[in-house]
Formats: sequence, structure tokens, C-alpha cells
Amino acid sequence: MPEAGVDTRTKPAVLILLGPPGAGKGTQARMLEDRFGLVQLSTGDLLRAAVKAGTEAGKKARAVMEAGELVSDEIVLEVLRDRMQEPDVSRGVILDGFPRTTGQAEALDALLADQGQSIGAAISIEVDDDAMVRRISGRYTCAACGEGYHDEFKQPARAGICDKCGGTEFTRRADDNAETVAARLAAYHAQTAPLIAYYEAQGVLERVDGMGPIDAIATELGAIVERATA
Ligand code: AP5
Repeated sequence: MPEAGVDTRTKPAVLILLGPPGAGKGTQARMLEDRFGLVQLSTGDLLRAAVKAGTEAGKKARAVMEAGELVSDEIVLEVLRDRMQEPDVSRGVILDGFPRTTGQAEALDALLADQGQSIGAAISIEVDDDAMVRRISGRYTCAACGEGYHDEFKQPARAGICDKCGGTEFTRRADDNAETVAARLAAYHAQTAPLIAYYEAQGVLERVDGMGPIDAIATELGAIVERATA
């Protein structure tokens, strides 16, 4: 039995976190990143950075994101491909919020086949829709390092000070309001949930109950990563 916290992986991982808004994909991806030295690739974060930087892709994505709909596959693949060129990605990646459509899943399969890689596991974090609105409406993030917090479920140890970097500025996302969350959940059920069957057919699907405590879910995900990359 490996010592707790020791990385026993023997090959680079490509892991996918599937789940509706608020399922805990970002929270868990950052924990896996810290524990296993993997790189979190969040298409939501990449698109928000593109919006902030005012790039062509960002200009096109902005209104779609504010409406809670899915950005076109073309734009998402453009921002992701750029990020995939960076050298740190060779350590292994956790794809957070990608793929979200069958078109994106097929594009990912083709990209990995070109690189001689394959998906280690596609992990579906399963949660109740009702709980998601509560989770998302309480969410806030450290403006300096991006660490995520929640008014009720995950507060910094010292009020107003980020545990990770000591930052004192926090932000809330523009799309974290009840109306947009409803649209995001609808988009998930219509366009992303079918990927659960897609990855089940490939034999790489893992299901995790996302309604428990954050640390218990992290332990379960850590075991999946170890199995998938051993
Ligand atoms: P994106 O940024 O990916 O958002 P999302 O999928 O809606 O997911 P969230 O980030 O809201 O939730 P999460 O699952 O990461 O939860 P978190 O860990 O923060 O996408 C935003 C938009 O960008 C999309 O609507 C779309 O327009 C566009 N987009 C992005 N990718 C795209 C793609 N591939 N194709 C097309 N369009 C794309 O947790 C939420 C809160 O709950 C936190 O406060 C956390 O502390 C708390 N929490 C987490 N786990 C638990 C737990 N177990 N118990 C209690 N609280 C918990």
C-alpha cells in the first residue's frame, strides 16, 4: 500500500472531469493538481482569460457565457489547442469542463491519437441539480491565485485571507446568478450528459458521488487516478 500523498504514477495521465456546474470539478481538479503534479486545464478559465484579454475568441465567447450557453466547439478547441502546446502539459492533465459536446470528445480522441496518448479515466461527478444553485451562489475565488471558496462549505481558515497565497481580494463570477445557472444546467443535460454513455462505451468511465464532503470525494478521485495511471 503506497504511503498517503505519495505519487505512484508511472505514466502521464489524461483525466477528464465531467459534471454539471457546481459539481466540484474545479475544486477537485486543483486538489489533484497539488497532489499528483498534474496540470488542470479548465476551458472555463481559458475562456474567461480570453474574455478579459479581449482576444477575438474572447469577444465571441463573452455574450454566450453570460447567457449560460455553450461556446462553439471551434472557439473552445482554439483556446485549448493553444494551451496544449505549452511544455508543462507533458506532466499529465486534468481536463476540467472539457469535453462538453460529442464534437469536442471526438476532437479530443483525434488529438490524443496523434500524440500516441489515450484517456486514463473520464470521471463523472454526480450531484443533485437542486444543490448546485446553492453551491454556485455561495462561491467566490481568490483574485490573486484563483483558489476557490464558499460562503457556507469552504471558508478560509482566517476570514478574508486566502489560505493558499495570503491574498485579500476575492471575486465572484458574472455567470453565477440563479437565471444563468438554470441555463447552464439545461446545457449540461442536453449537450454534455450524453458523454457519460460515450465514455462508458470506451470503457474509461468512472462515477463518483459528488454530494459528500470535499475531502472524501478527493480521496475517491485520488484512488481512481492511481488506478488509471499505474
Ligand atoms: P466553467 O467555468 O467550466 O463552469 P461550469 O462547468 O459551469 O462549472 P463551475 O466552474 O461552475 O463548477 P465546478 O464544477 O468547477 O464547481 P466548483 O469546484 O467551483 O464554464 C463556464 C462557461 O464557459 C460555460 O457556461 C460555457 O459558456 C463556457 N464553457 C466552458 N467550457 C466549455 C466547453 N468545453 N464548451 C463550450 N463552452 C464552454 O464548486 C462550486 C462551489 O461548491 C465552490 O464554492 C466549492 O467550494 C463548493 N463545493 C465543491 N465541492 C463541494 C462539495 N463536495 N460539498 C460542498 N461544497 C462543494
